[in-house]
Amino acid sequence: MVNPQRKRVLSGIQPSGNLTIGNYVGAIRQWVEHQSEFDAYYCVVDLHAITVEHDPKILAEKSREVAGIYIACGLDPAQSTVFVQSHIPAHSELAWLLTCITPLGWLNRMTQFKDKSAKQEANSVSNGLLSYPVLMAADILLYQAQAVPVGDDQRQHLEFTRDLAQRFNHMFGETFTIPEAMIPLAGARIMGLDDPTAKMSKSETAQYHAVYILDDPDTARKKIMRSVTDSGRDIRFSDDPEKAGVNNLLNLYQALTGQSREAIEDHFATARGYGDLKKEVAEIVIETLRPIQARYKELAEDSRNIDELLAQGTMRAAAIATQTLQQARENMGFLPAHS
Ligand code: AMP
Ligand code: TRP
Repeated sequence: MVNPQRKRVLSGIQPSGNLTIGNYVGAIRQWVEHQSEFDAYYCVVDLHAITVEHDPKILAEKSREVAGIYIACGLDPAQSTVFVQSHIPAHSELAWLLTCITPLGWLNRMTQFKDKSAKQEANSVSNGLLSYPVLMAADILLYQAQAVPVGDDQRQHLEFTRDLAQRFNHMFGETFTIPEAMIPLAGARIMGLDDPTAKMSKSETAQYHAVYILDDPDTARKKIMRSVTDSGRDIRFSDDPEKAGVNNLLNLYQALTGQSREAIEDHFATARGYGDLKKEVAEIVIETLRPIQARYKELAEDSRNIDELLAQGTMRAAAIATQTLQQARENMGFLPAHS
C-alpha cells in the first residue's frame, strides 16, 4: 500500500551495456536499503539508451535484463514500483514540453554531453544526446519525486532538473516538486579497474575495465587481480592520483563491507602487498554477487516473470505520470481534448 507519509523517490539506469558493480554500489544498493522508507519508482530508461547508437536486436532483451537485475538485487515489487520508461508515453510528452522552455546554453554546458559527444564523429552526435537531461528531468518531475538516489556523476543532471522545474513553476505556476539528489557516502564513484582515473562505466568495453553484476566468480576475480595499482605497497585511502588504483579498491571494499576507513586501514596494515588487498576485494565482490546472480537466474528462466512484474509497475506508475502531465498541459494553456 502506498503510504503518503513516505518520501517519493525515482531513479533509473539505461539498458545499454552490462550493469557494473559501480551501478550496484552507486545506485541500486541504496534503492534496496531504503525501500521500506520510500514510495519508490525505479525505471529502466530505455529512451535514454537510444541517445547514442544502439542495436535494435538487443534493446528489448537488455531492458528485461536490467529490470530482472533490479529485482534480483533485492527490490521488492510489492514495495517498489519497477517499470520501463518507454511503456509510459507521458515521459516523452513531458520531455517535449520541457524542451521548449530549456535554454540551449544549459544543455551545452553539461559535462556528460561534452564527454560523450567528444567520443563520436561530429555528424553522428544526435539532438537526443544534447536533450538527454531534459528527458531525465521529465522522468523525475512526472512523479513529483522529492529525492533521486544516484551516483556522484549525476549531480549536474540533478541541478539541471531543479533549475528546469523552478523555471517551469515560475513561468506557468506551481506544478513540480523540486527534487534533491541522494548520493551514497561510500561507493558513489567507482573508478575503472584498468584505469583508475576514469569512472567505471558500462559503456566502456575494454576486457578488464569493470566487474559486471552478472560476471561469474572466476571472471570477476581475474578482473580485480589484474586491476591497475602503483609500485608501492602502502594500503591506505588517499587523494594522491598516483594511488588512485589502491584507493578505488579500498572504496569498493568500504562500500561492500560498511566498515570505517580506520578499521579497513588497520585490517590491511599487516598485508604483505597489494595482492592481499585484491584477493579480499575479489572475495567480497564475489560473495556480494553470488545471491544476486542466483536470484537473477531463477527469475530469468521464464521471461514472463519479469514481464508480468513490469506490467504491474506500468499501471501504478502511469496513474501518477498521467496526472502530472495533465496538470502541466493545463498550466501551459493547452486546449483540453474532449473524449
Ligand atoms: P548509468 O550506468 O550511467 O546508466 O548509471 C546508472 C546509475 O549508476 C546512476 O545513478 C549512476 O550515478 C550510477 N553509476 C554509474 N557508474 C557508477 C560508478 N562507476 N560508480 C558509482 N555509481 C555509478
Ligand atoms: N542519466 C542517468 C544515468 O546515466 C539515468 C537516468 C535517466 C536517471 N533518467 C533518470 C537517473 C531519472 C535518475 C532519475 O545514470
